[in-house]
Amino acid sequence: MSEIEKKIDEYKNKIDSCSKVEELDSLKSDVLGKNGLINIEFKKLSDLPVEEKKSFAANINKIKHELSDIFRLKLVEILDKDIIDKVKKEKVDVTLPEKNFKIGKVHPVSQVIDEISCIFSEIGFSVEEGPDVENEYNNFTALNTPENHPAKDMHDTFYLDQDMKTLLRTHTSPVQIRTMLKGKPPFKIIAPGRTYRSDSDQTHTPMFHQLEGLQIDKNINMGHLKGCLNYFIKEFFEIDKIKMRFRPSHFPFTEPSAEVDIGYRLENNKIIIGEGDKWLEILGCGMVHPNVLKNCKIDSNKFQGFAFGIGIDRLAMLKYGINDLRSFFECDYRWLNHYGFDPLDVPTNYRGLSR
Ligand code: PHE
Repeated sequence: MSEIEKKIDEYKNKIDSCSKVEELDSLKSDVLGKNGLINIEFKKLSDLPVEEKKSFAANINKIKHELSDIFRLKLVEILDKDIIDKVKKEKVDVTLPEKNFKIGKVHPVSQVIDEISCIFSEIGFSVEEGPDVENEYNNFTALNTPENHPAKDMHDTFYLDQDMKTLLRTHTSPVQIRTMLKGKPPFKIIAPGRTYRSDSDQTHTPMFHQLEGLQIDKNINMGHLKGCLNYFIKEFFEIDKIKMRFRPSHFPFTEPSAEVDIGYRLENNKIIIGEGDKWLEILGCGMVHPNVLKNCKIDSNKFQGFAFGIGIDRLAMLKYGINDLRSFFECDYRWLNHYGFDPLDVPTNYRGLSR
């Protein structure tokens, strides 16, 4: 065996027992590098007689290619082994119970929905749900909305088909229709959920959240509506004294209709609810229009009731001092960590809603 073949054999053994990429790299530079074994061998070419040059060069080239292949395969082997070792080390048993419950946070919108549901369930409302993708009838026509109503405009409503029959619901009011069509009065429900309108700025996002309320029974009047909302707002803001005003308004599906403002004042940029002389609109409401009852096969001479629609995101902003609505939907983990809630602190009326 020639000198070079002996050396190559030694290197092959070293490569074989090598287990780290860095080790392999250093062996590779010893053998195939600029000043490595192979290049040193090539330099000998110039001293050889002409007739030996060709076979000598061919032999070195063969060894060089063979070694390159060995290095390449060994590298793959080491990398594969690294991955397998890593996966083995990082293996998690997903059936084991979680140890660190603090990691996740509940989004303020989810928290507020839980709080509101809790407040209304206390006075006998049950929770209903409806789909985000609605038909035109439930969203507009059944709710007594005339054909040429501005809300039906393409600019406000996301239609999902050419003939404008399917859409993303623009409010939670279609759940009123769904609830009344599938049951018999009396009804006493709330329906939280996502709603969509083509609008976006600091106080509007194309997707937002509403909570619908509906109570239909015999002899229900505006007084019941007012009492119900008064109770709700006090409980929600966890204060004894609130300032609330009903402002005449218009919705096709209620008559009479009102919008409700709550009084507040600003102190060092912080909102103080229940005092001061500023007003903020938080919901729309009214007595359910007889046409809506008729569309749901309910005799409006026997049954009447009220409905309301609350802007959930706005309430969350007010209660928890968040001033840009868009931040709610940016999915920034740092934001959620700051404004989010402990998942084990479920709101209850007895223990307190947000404490
Ligand atoms: N659906 C109305 C809106 O989105 C709110 C509302 C609900 C008003 C129920 C009256 C009764 O603006």
